[in-house]
Amino acid sequence: MTLTFDPIIQFYDLQPEIDDFRTSVLQGLTQPQKAIAPQFLYDKRGSELFDAICTLEEYYLTRTEVRILQENAAEIAKLIGDGVLIEFGSGSSQKVRILLNAAPQIKTYVALDISKQHLCESCTNLMQDYRQLETIAICTDYMRSLHLPHLPSLQNQYKVGFFPGSSIGNLEPDEALTFLKKTAAILESGGLLIGVDLKKSREILEPAYDDAQGISAEFALNLLARINSELGADFNLDQFSYQAHYNPIGRIEMHIVSLKEQVVHLDGVEIHFYEGERLRTEYSYKYTIAEFQTLATQAGFQPKCVWTDTEQLFSVHYLTL
Ligand code: AVI
Repeated sequence: MTLTFDPIIQFYDLQPEIDDFRTSVLQGLTQPQKAIAPQFLYDKRGSELFDAICTLEEYYLTRTEVRILQENAAEIAKLIGDGVLIEFGSGSSQKVRILLNAAPQIKTYVALDISKQHLCESCTNLMQDYRQLETIAICTDYMRSLHLPHLPSLQNQYKVGFFPGSSIGNLEPDEALTFLKKTAAILESGGLLIGVDLKKSREILEPAYDDAQGISAEFALNLLARINSELGADFNLDQFSYQAHYNPIGRIEMHIVSLKEQVVHLDGVEIHFYEGERLRTEYSYKYTIAEFQTLATQAGFQPKCVWTDTEQLFSVHYLTL
């Protein structure tokens, strides 16, 4: 389905059906180790809460990546040339502005995001500031099924993927490899600019994912509120808490924890929780530069440039095909 919000913005709705959400949630809640895929965290409220996380003092990722992009914008702009920019997980489309300002020759921007309302609002705002830019918004679960509709503006163009925020870290390494391979197929002979969070101490990582204000907790628990409102479940949010733990294999593990033994109902199914039982909402993998370059090489990319900050908190890679 194609909708046009504005004479210039083109919008494609490839959003998964509500049944996909229901099926995934039921499946995730009835398996021995309860887990729900992280893409379901991003309804309208979830996207707002994630934007709030990005501004937290403890969540160094966003400001560090922004600084790396700003400091190296001229060099990045040269690498992008006049290519078409395709952003995976465009969110509020803020970081892309750094690239658009440094590379005004970019004519087309394709924004992919799972949160429809957020995507449309962000692209509408972007269009107001970049009136010459052809903006194409695609609502899709790009982490799970990455394919683009036929877009004439992409034919025979140098395509540059932009995947900031270390969202690659929310995939298991084998899924990340599959995702990078699919990305490579879409970008053909283009490049990929990707933000990857670096391995570091637990003392820095755990507060980044469990902040003093409790926004990270609210973000995770909003998933239960979403399941209640969209699927008619009866989670009592007061009976669950949130936990973020760094597993030294290299990932933050985020869970919702049942505060007591309880039963939740969804679609006529009784879901039992024992006291202390955990429901996984996300993993966030961290990579060294060398580990990530190895993964990217396995997917068919060649590492071309990598930039970091002085504290070596975060990395931004440019990979070519
Ligand atoms: C979107 N993604 C990269 C975030 C992360 O850092 O893994 C998601 C997040 N969840 C809680 N805080 C941040």
